[in-house]
Amino acid sequence: MSFPERVFSGVQPTGTLTLGNYLGALSRFSDYQDKYECLYCVVDMHAITMWQDPKELHANTLGVTAAYLASGLDPAKNIIFNQSQVAAHAEMAWVFNCVTRIGWLNRMTQFKEKAGKHRENASAGLYVYPSLMAADILVYRATHVPVGDDQKQHLELARDIAQKFNHDYADTIRTQTNGEEFFPQPEPLIEGPAMRVMSLRDGTKKMSKSDPSDNSRINMDDDADTIAQKIRKAKTDPDALPSLEDGFEGRAEAENLLGIYAALAKEPKNDVVTRFAGQQFSEFKKELTELAVETLAPVSNELVRLKGDPGHLESVLKAGSERAAAIAEPIMKQTKAIVGFVGA
Ligand code: TRP
Repeated sequence: MSFPERVFSGVQPTGTLTLGNYLGALSRFSDYQDKYECLYCVVDMHAITMWQDPKELHANTLGVTAAYLASGLDPAKNIIFNQSQVAAHAEMAWVFNCVTRIGWLNRMTQFKEKAGKHRENASAGLYVYPSLMAADILVYRATHVPVGDDQKQHLELARDIAQKFNHDYADTIRTQTNGEEFFPQPEPLIEGPAMRVMSLRDGTKKMSKSDPSDNSRINMDDDADTIAQKIRKAKTDPDALPSLEDGFEGRAEAENLLGIYAALAKEPKNDVVTRFAGQQFSEFKKELTELAVETLAPVSNELVRLKGDPGHLESVLKAGSERAAAIAEPIMKQTKAIVGFVGA
């Protein structure tokens, strides 16, 4: 069976977004809006798998919404909404909790990392997080999911859940629908080189909103002066910039800054490396600052402006949630009928 192409992605409202979120995800989303039907979700239900201060969760949900819009997503073309406002996510997640196997969840590296040594004390929600993520995608029968490397394992689990559901309920699927398969196998959607932005203080660590040093990251709402200052302070090494032949062996910071330049300029990294080979960091940083300010400052200005109008952001989410529910509800109803629930 073929399914119409549909894109789904989600961002957690758990803190200010960084350049990593922007280059790795948000800035790419607008590339899809003319090609596919797209749903972009603020996954507030995923956020509470780790305790969130309610006031902050509320503000951060509007913050991610503002970031979607500031990154160029048009709310008329895309469905922008928050997860908890569409009940079908939770309903589908329950069905999927009963399809997924404990052994599958036990293999999830993100759970192991997030639960750490205190596994017994992690929330049950954190453990079944991937089945909620599968529900997010499959309750719309989304076929394409823009995700970074860290979410690939969860997407594979969503494929396994889809396949097992299709298999376990094959008889009712065949009699109640004309098709052989009820859920598609969602595929990762990554155009161009996957961008992993590393910390400005330690090129071996991912740029993270939870790093105690604010100088380790560029936040999406940093103003031009802050961006410039953080690039100036970014860690480098004393040598000139390498050419491709020298490689980046042991020079993670140099590689990261060149990668950021390439992503901002939307140029292949090789071209950027060739252009700056042999130059000093002081020179390169000037160019990088200019480019970063030119591309990021308009986004951050717009983000700050939008955050000043929470009423508008709430109405975007409400309208988006209604459109999302209109797609999800019939699929959820059919799922219930397939499972054998009375009333569906
Ligand atoms: N788990 C994703 C992350 O932390 C967020 C997410 C939730 C998501 N549901 C999704 C991403 C569905 C893609 C599709 O980055």
